[in-house]
Amino acid sequence: PGAGPLDGLRITVSAGGTREPIDAVRYIGNRSSGRQGWALAQVAALAGASVRCVTTVDPPFRADLVEVLRVESAEQMLDAMRSAQEDSDVLIMSAAVADFRVAEPFAGKVKRAGKERLELSLVPNPDILVELVQHRKQPQVIVGFAAEVERLEESVANKLANKGVDLIVGNNVAEPGSEFGSVTNAVYLLDRLGRQRRIEMAPKTEIAASILAAIVALIEV
Ligand code: C5P
Repeated sequence: PGAGPLDGLRITVSAGGTREPIDAVRYIGNRSSGRQGWALAQVAALAGASVRCVTTVDPPFRADLVEVLRVESAEQMLDAMRSAQEDSDVLIMSAAVADFRVAEPFAGKVKRAGKERLELSLVPNPDILVELVQHRKQPQVIVGFAAEVERLEESVANKLANKGVDLIVGNNVAEPGSEFGSVTNAVYLLDRLGRQRRIEMAPKTEIAASILAAIVALIEV
Protein backbone atom coordinates (compact mmCIF):
# COMPACT_ATOMS: atom_id res chain seq x y z
CA PRO A 1 0.00 0.00 0.00
CA GLY A 2 1.21 3.50 -0.85
CA ALA A 3 0.82 6.68 1.12
CA GLY A 4 -1.28 8.64 -1.35
CA PRO A 5 -4.03 10.95 -0.03
CA LEU A 6 -6.68 8.86 -1.82
CA ASP A 7 -5.32 5.44 -0.79
CA GLY A 8 -8.01 2.81 -0.60
CA LEU A 9 -10.68 4.94 -2.27
CA ARG A 10 -12.50 3.21 -5.16
CA ILE A 11 -13.49 5.71 -7.83
CA THR A 12 -15.39 5.13 -11.06
CA VAL A 13 -15.43 7.99 -13.55
CA SER A 14 -17.11 8.23 -16.95
CA ALA A 15 -15.48 10.11 -19.81
CA GLY A 16 -16.25 11.20 -23.35
CA GLY A 17 -19.39 11.62 -25.40
CA THR A 18 -21.69 8.69 -26.01
CA ARG A 19 -22.13 7.38 -29.56
CA GLU A 20 -25.66 6.42 -30.43
CA PRO A 21 -25.80 4.05 -33.41
CA ILE A 22 -27.68 5.02 -36.57
CA ASP A 23 -26.62 1.95 -38.52
CA ALA A 24 -23.69 -0.47 -38.55
CA VAL A 25 -21.14 2.28 -39.32
CA ARG A 26 -22.66 5.62 -38.24
CA TYR A 27 -23.55 7.22 -34.97
CA ILE A 28 -24.91 10.39 -33.39
CA GLY A 29 -22.19 11.93 -31.24
CA ASN A 30 -21.11 15.13 -29.55
CA ARG A 31 -17.98 17.25 -29.14
CA SER A 32 -16.86 15.96 -25.74
CA SER A 33 -13.16 15.02 -25.79
CA GLY A 34 -13.16 13.05 -22.54
CA ARG A 35 -10.26 15.17 -21.28
CA GLN A 36 -11.77 16.26 -17.96
CA GLY A 37 -12.94 12.74 -17.14
CA TRP A 38 -9.59 11.23 -18.01
CA ALA A 39 -7.77 13.95 -16.02
CA LEU A 40 -9.89 13.02 -12.99
CA ALA A 41 -9.10 9.33 -13.48
CA GLN A 42 -5.37 9.92 -13.85
CA VAL A 43 -4.99 12.40 -10.98
CA ALA A 44 -7.05 10.17 -8.65
CA ALA A 45 -4.95 7.11 -9.57
CA LEU A 46 -1.71 9.00 -8.97
CA ALA A 47 -3.05 10.01 -5.54
CA GLY A 48 -3.50 6.33 -4.67
CA ALA A 49 -7.15 5.69 -5.52
CA SER A 50 -8.20 2.53 -7.30
CA VAL A 51 -9.76 3.95 -10.46
CA ARG A 52 -11.97 2.69 -13.26
CA CYS A 53 -12.82 4.80 -16.29
CA VAL A 54 -15.99 4.01 -18.24
CA THR A 55 -15.19 5.72 -21.50
CA THR A 56 -16.05 6.19 -25.15
CA VAL A 57 -12.55 7.52 -25.96
CA ASP A 58 -8.97 6.42 -25.44
CA PRO A 59 -6.99 8.33 -22.82
CA PRO A 60 -5.55 11.55 -24.33
CA PHE A 61 -2.37 10.97 -22.28
CA ARG A 62 -0.79 8.03 -20.45
CA ALA A 63 -3.12 6.66 -17.81
CA ASP A 64 -1.54 3.28 -17.06
CA LEU A 65 -2.89 3.01 -13.54
CA VAL A 66 -6.51 3.25 -14.61
CA GLU A 67 -8.72 0.26 -15.41
CA VAL A 68 -10.52 0.97 -18.69
CA LEU A 69 -14.07 -0.09 -19.57
CA ARG A 70 -14.81 0.86 -23.17
CA VAL A 71 -18.40 1.64 -24.12
CA GLU A 72 -20.15 3.46 -26.95
CA SER A 73 -23.82 4.14 -26.27
CA ALA A 74 -25.60 5.60 -23.25
CA GLU A 75 -27.22 2.23 -22.59
CA GLN A 76 -23.82 0.51 -22.52
CA MET A 77 -22.49 3.27 -20.26
CA LEU A 78 -25.44 2.79 -17.90
CA ASP A 79 -24.74 -0.96 -17.68
CA ALA A 80 -21.03 -0.40 -17.03
CA MET A 81 -21.64 2.29 -14.40
CA ARG A 82 -24.30 0.20 -12.67
CA SER A 83 -22.02 -2.81 -12.40
CA ALA A 84 -19.14 -0.60 -11.19
CA GLN A 85 -21.47 0.96 -8.62
CA GLU A 86 -21.43 -2.24 -6.55
CA ASP A 87 -17.86 -1.69 -5.41
CA SER A 88 -17.26 2.04 -5.78
CA ASP A 89 -16.98 4.67 -3.05
CA VAL A 90 -17.24 7.52 -5.55
CA LEU A 91 -19.05 7.74 -8.90
CA ILE A 92 -18.29 10.68 -11.20
CA MET A 93 -20.39 11.23 -14.33
CA SER A 94 -18.23 13.53 -16.40
CA ALA A 95 -19.31 11.93 -19.68
CA ALA A 96 -21.51 13.86 -22.11
CA VAL A 97 -24.42 11.47 -22.44
CA ALA A 98 -26.71 11.83 -25.45
CA ASP A 99 -30.20 12.72 -24.32
CA PHE A 100 -31.73 10.76 -27.22
CA ARG A 101 -30.88 7.65 -29.23
CA VAL A 102 -32.18 6.29 -32.54
CA ALA A 103 -35.27 4.24 -31.74
CA GLU A 104 -34.41 1.42 -34.15
CA PRO A 105 -30.89 1.55 -35.58
CA PHE A 106 -30.68 0.11 -39.12
CA ALA A 107 -29.03 -3.25 -39.59
CA GLY A 108 -26.15 -3.01 -42.07
CA LYS A 109 -25.24 0.28 -43.80
CA VAL A 110 -27.95 2.66 -44.97
CA LYS A 111 -27.66 3.37 -48.75
CA ARG A 112 -28.39 6.74 -50.34
CA ALA A 113 -29.70 5.40 -53.67
CA GLY A 114 -33.40 5.94 -54.29
CA LYS A 115 -34.11 7.91 -51.09
CA GLU A 116 -35.70 11.39 -51.20
CA ARG A 117 -35.63 11.64 -47.44
CA LEU A 118 -34.42 9.59 -44.51
CA GLU A 119 -36.10 10.06 -41.17
CA LEU A 120 -34.68 9.08 -37.83
CA SER A 121 -36.96 8.63 -34.90
CA LEU A 122 -35.35 9.37 -31.53
CA VAL A 123 -36.29 8.17 -28.06
CA PRO A 124 -34.95 9.48 -24.74
CA ASN A 125 -31.99 7.79 -23.10
CA PRO A 126 -32.05 6.89 -19.42
CA ASP A 127 -30.52 9.53 -17.12
CA ILE A 128 -27.55 7.53 -15.83
CA LEU A 129 -26.90 9.91 -12.95
CA VAL A 130 -30.47 9.61 -11.70
CA GLU A 131 -30.32 5.80 -11.99
CA LEU A 132 -27.12 5.75 -9.96
CA VAL A 133 -28.65 7.95 -7.26
CA GLN A 134 -31.70 5.66 -7.13
CA HIS A 135 -29.48 2.62 -6.58
CA ARG A 136 -27.04 4.30 -4.23
CA LYS A 137 -25.70 2.28 -1.33
CA GLN A 138 -24.64 4.49 1.53
CA PRO A 139 -22.03 5.79 1.84
CA GLN A 140 -21.33 6.58 -1.78
CA VAL A 141 -20.47 10.01 -3.18
CA ILE A 142 -22.13 10.70 -6.54
CA VAL A 143 -20.91 13.60 -8.66
CA GLY A 144 -22.49 15.14 -11.76
CA PHE A 145 -21.44 17.75 -14.27
CA ALA A 146 -23.38 20.60 -15.78
CA ALA A 147 -22.24 21.96 -19.11
CA GLU A 148 -24.07 25.24 -19.58
CA VAL A 149 -23.92 28.24 -21.86
CA GLU A 150 -25.55 30.78 -19.52
CA ARG A 151 -26.70 31.27 -15.91
CA LEU A 152 -24.24 28.69 -14.66
CA GLU A 153 -24.79 29.02 -10.89
CA GLU A 154 -28.55 28.82 -11.19
CA SER A 155 -28.39 25.72 -13.41
CA VAL A 156 -25.91 24.04 -11.09
CA ALA A 157 -28.14 24.65 -8.06
CA ASN A 158 -31.15 23.25 -9.92
CA LYS A 159 -29.26 20.20 -11.12
CA LEU A 160 -27.94 19.46 -7.62
CA ALA A 161 -31.48 19.48 -6.25
CA ASN A 162 -33.21 17.72 -9.15
CA LYS A 163 -30.73 14.87 -9.54
CA GLY A 164 -30.11 14.26 -5.84
CA VAL A 165 -26.33 14.13 -6.25
CA ASP A 166 -23.69 15.17 -3.70
CA LEU A 167 -21.70 17.53 -5.89
CA ILE A 168 -22.18 19.28 -9.23
CA VAL A 169 -19.27 20.54 -11.29
CA GLY A 170 -20.52 23.31 -13.53
CA ASN A 171 -18.66 24.68 -16.49
CA ASN A 172 -19.57 27.33 -19.01
CA VAL A 173 -18.92 25.66 -22.34
CA ALA A 174 -19.45 28.95 -24.20
CA GLU A 175 -16.50 30.58 -22.42
CA PRO A 176 -13.16 30.55 -24.30
CA GLY A 177 -10.83 28.11 -22.52
CA SER A 178 -13.59 25.92 -21.11
CA GLU A 179 -15.37 24.86 -24.28
CA PHE A 180 -15.63 21.20 -25.31
CA GLY A 181 -12.24 19.78 -26.28
CA SER A 182 -10.03 22.39 -24.60
CA VAL A 183 -7.10 21.40 -22.39
CA THR A 184 -8.10 23.96 -19.75
CA ASN A 185 -11.29 24.45 -17.81
CA ALA A 186 -12.87 26.85 -15.31
CA VAL A 187 -15.53 25.45 -13.00
CA TYR A 188 -18.05 26.29 -10.33
CA LEU A 189 -18.55 23.62 -7.63
CA LEU A 190 -21.61 23.29 -5.41
CA ASP A 191 -22.10 20.44 -2.92
CA ARG A 192 -25.14 19.18 -1.04
CA LEU A 193 -24.09 21.09 2.08
CA GLY A 194 -24.25 24.33 0.10
CA ARG A 195 -20.49 24.79 -0.06
CA GLN A 196 -19.48 26.52 -3.26
CA ARG A 197 -16.20 27.24 -4.96
CA ARG A 198 -15.10 28.92 -8.15
CA ILE A 199 -11.96 27.55 -9.74
CA GLU A 200 -10.26 29.85 -12.21
CA MET A 201 -9.06 28.73 -15.62
CA ALA A 202 -6.40 26.03 -15.27
CA PRO A 203 -5.25 22.83 -16.99
CA LYS A 204 -7.83 20.06 -16.64
CA THR A 205 -5.44 18.07 -14.41
CA GLU A 206 -5.38 20.96 -11.92
CA ILE A 207 -9.16 21.30 -12.11
CA ALA A 208 -9.33 17.54 -11.44
CA ALA A 209 -7.30 17.95 -8.24
CA SER A 210 -9.71 20.64 -7.00
CA ILE A 211 -12.74 18.48 -7.81
CA LEU A 212 -11.16 15.54 -5.94
CA ALA A 213 -10.51 17.81 -2.93
CA ALA A 214 -14.22 18.74 -2.93
CA ILE A 215 -15.10 15.02 -3.05
CA VAL A 216 -12.79 14.23 -0.13
CA ALA A 217 -14.43 17.06 1.84
CA LEU A 218 -17.77 15.24 1.35
CA ILE A 219 -16.39 11.90 2.49
CA GLU A 220 -15.01 13.45 5.65
CA VAL A 221 -18.33 14.92 6.84
O1 C5P B 1 -29.31 17.05 -17.27
P1 C5P B 1 -27.95 17.23 -17.83
O2 C5P B 1 -27.69 16.40 -19.05
O3 C5P B 1 -27.54 18.66 -18.05
O4 C5P B 1 -27.00 16.72 -16.67
C1 C5P B 1 -25.63 16.55 -16.86
C2 C5P B 1 -25.14 15.47 -15.95
O5 C5P B 1 -25.98 14.33 -16.06
C3 C5P B 1 -23.75 14.99 -16.32
O6 C5P B 1 -23.10 14.54 -15.15
C4 C5P B 1 -24.06 13.84 -17.26
O7 C5P B 1 -22.98 12.91 -17.28
C5 C5P B 1 -25.29 13.25 -16.63
N1 C5P B 1 -26.22 12.59 -17.58
C6 C5P B 1 -26.50 11.24 -17.43
N2 C5P B 1 -27.37 10.63 -18.27
C7 C5P B 1 -27.98 11.32 -19.25
C8 C5P B 1 -27.73 12.70 -19.40
C9 C5P B 1 -26.84 13.30 -18.55
O8 C5P B 1 -25.94 10.62 -16.52
N3 C5P B 1 -28.83 10.70 -20.06
